[in-house]
Amino acid sequence: MRIAVVGATGMVGEIMLKVLAERNFPVTELIPVASEKSVGKEIEFKGTKYKVVGLQTAVDMKADIALFSAGGETSLVWAPKFAEAGTTVIDNSSAWRMDPTKKLVVPEINASELTKEDKIIANPNCSTIQMVLALAPLHKKYNVKRVIVSTYQSITGTGVKAVQQFENECAGVEGDMVYKYKINRNCIPQCDSFEDNGYTKEEMKLVNETKKILGDDSIKLTATAVRVPVVGGHSEAVNVEFSNNFDVNEVRTILHNTDGITVQDNLDTFTYPMPRYAEGKNDVFVGRIRRDESQANTLNMWIVADNLRKGAATNTIQIAEYLIASKLV
Ligand SMILES: NC(=O)c1ccc[n+]([C@@H]2O[C@H](COP(=O)([O-])OP(=O)(O)OC[C@H]3O[C@@H](n4cnc5c(N)ncnc54)[C@H](OP(=O)(O)O)[C@@H]3O)[C@@H](O)[C@H]2O)c1
Repeated sequence: MRIAVVGATGMVGEIMLKVLAERNFPVTELIPVASEKSVGKEIEFKGTKYKVVGLQTAVDMKADIALFSAGGETSLVWAPKFAEAGTTVIDNSSAWRMDPTKKLVVPEINASELTKEDKIIANPNCSTIQMVLALAPLHKKYNVKRVIVSTYQSITGTGVKAVQQFENECAGVEGDMVYKYKINRNCIPQCDSFEDNGYTKEEMKLVNETKKILGDDSIKLTATAVRVPVVGGHSEAVNVEFSNNFDVNEVRTILHNTDGITVQDNLDTFTYPMPRYAEGKNDVFVGRIRRDESQANTLNMWIVADNLRKGAATNTIQIAEYLIASKLV
């Protein structure tokens, strides 16, 4: 497979290269792509050095698959050009996620919807992926009625410039600010920009993408997304009301038996998911699984994942693996 990685010099792009190598993805030629300022830079992949190329050069090279993580604007303009050249695009930005003609895929849940005709495939938002992976098997069994989610999101979710801001603050150095406020020793209740309804884009992504992936518009969701001074991954406090009653131990078993989920839930040993320990791992970690005693058929859980891995690079590469295994590319 000839694989283009668009945004190869960014936070997600760098992890994509790592995950491709770790999973022994069948790359015969790597085409690293970034903005004009990075063209000519060298990127190392599995011991070989590759030169970064620009977008048009990459289109002309007609890769089999292009893994995009270079922002929504780049995807809107360039994904169709790659697709027209015969390259299947898997896109990490929000550009195509809610387009009714594009599939929004978490492989463990809905990869079977993919066909040869899908030339631009959308990867969901990082905070959606980790939540929906836990919700999907529970929805099947108990039917999700309503979800209330509060997120505690890593600064790595905002890219290299945000990590730089955080490091500057820690070192007492003045530098460019990506967030409106200092992030060190702070919580910022704004992830992405605000929409007219008073919610942020990140909050509305959780609402809209979850319904699309689970294929159920009747699910009610509401979200509060908060940026915290953490680097290892996103955490989420998720409150779920089901139509049907459940047994907490059965919930644990269902989650334990779900591909891509590791249950970490033992109060005797103080075992629960934390971003420091999720960092660098591909799984979604679920713990603090307990009944909401204030309302019938309602569950609380705490979900953590490395947003650069399952929230972005790993999920994208799993989609690519599915395409290859199913001979769709
Ligand atoms: N971080 C996350 O947790 C996460 C999770 C899911 C999805 N995403 C999405 O993934 C994308 C990248 O995020 P990131 O965190 O990796 O950001 P980042 O660290 O800022 O990296 C951005 C990458 O895009 C490239 N790029 C920017 N403008 C470009 C242009 N006009 N043409 C070609 N390449 C361009 C950059 O190249 P240069 O180095 O040359 O500027 C860099 O490689 C975004 O769409 C983001 O929403 C991020």
